[in-house]
Amino acid sequence: MSFPVVRMRRLRRNPLLRRMVQETRLEVFDLVAPLFVKEGIAAPEPIASMPGQYQHTLDSLVRECEELVEVGVPAVILFGIPARKDPEGSGASDPNGIIQRALRRIREEFGERLLLITDLCMCEYTSHGHCGIVRNGTVDNDRTLDRYREIAISQAAAGADIIAPSGMMDGQVQAIREALDGAGYQDIAILAYAAKYASSLYGPFREAAESAPKFGDRRSYQMDIANREEAIREVSLDIEEGADMVMVKPALPNLDILAKIKELFRMPTAAYNVSGEYAMVKAAAQQGWLDERATVVEILTAIKRAGADVILTYFAKDAAHWLRERS
Ligand code: PBG
Ligand code: ZN
Repeated sequence: MSFPVVRMRRLRRNPLLRRMVQETRLEVFDLVAPLFVKEGIAAPEPIASMPGQYQHTLDSLVRECEELVEVGVPAVILFGIPARKDPEGSGASDPNGIIQRALRRIREEFGERLLLITDLCMCEYTSHGHCGIVRNGTVDNDRTLDRYREIAISQAAAGADIIAPSGMMDGQVQAIREALDGAGYQDIAILAYAAKYASSLYGPFREAAESAPKFGDRRSYQMDIANREEAIREVSLDIEEGADMVMVKPALPNLDILAKIKELFRMPTAAYNVSGEYAMVKAAAQQGWLDERATVVEILTAIKRAGADVILTYFAKDAAHWLRERS
């Protein structure tokens, strides 16, 4: 059967018909809001390359969480910026570190009303800005794992629900799983940044998190954008090591990878709509070159259609508002 009997436009004739046959529905439950909290500042500081995003104080972080809870965003992922950095990234595992304090504060205020995800990495905490321990000019994988174990336990102790290692060290999921289980945190889940590509789209984040590497780049641990089979191996290894959820990042240049991974592994799968993707839309919208709302809903829906169960996005709060107005 084909034209003229078949007419695809029949089901596009009006909004209700289009809604009825819509295959992918973006929902507020799909979203995770990334938030930055900085030690030792008196007021929230706007992030120039990410309009609408802030380096929060503990108080402004709580207020932001309140707004997110009000509009129904179910989860946040927290990034901490310590007052002092050192080569070992000591602040990352400090029981009184900025993330640990933030976790306790938010838990106290919101209980079970908000899921708390922590990014587990060292680049915000190290003086050299790399994601692990540097030895002989390169990041030493296995020494870094020892630090990740300590950081994981400190984050769990402070109340994280889900720990998300983003450093792309080999064996990081296994190391963290063992550490958590050994310390009695069997029920804390791991969201593995499994297929994380080296990307220029992390630029604004590195301003926000003050985490740019002081020498070299991250290509000896993050993936080459040219590679596909490698992403499949990365995800498969993380699942074997005990990941509960896997992530593809950045989302938009890697929708093919996201679709493939969802199809192959059938795991709860997340995609990170990263800082550079946010900045591009914001910049164009500020110029009046793009309709921000329509663009964001289109992008987030496409990420979900490609296979994401969970989308980490700086647009979470705005999208939540827009989704409310729509329904
Ligand atoms: C830390 C980390 C980064 C991002 C998330 N966790 C930056 C990086 O790897 O340099 C990027 C997120 C974004 O750009 O929004 N390892
Ligand atoms: Zn890092």
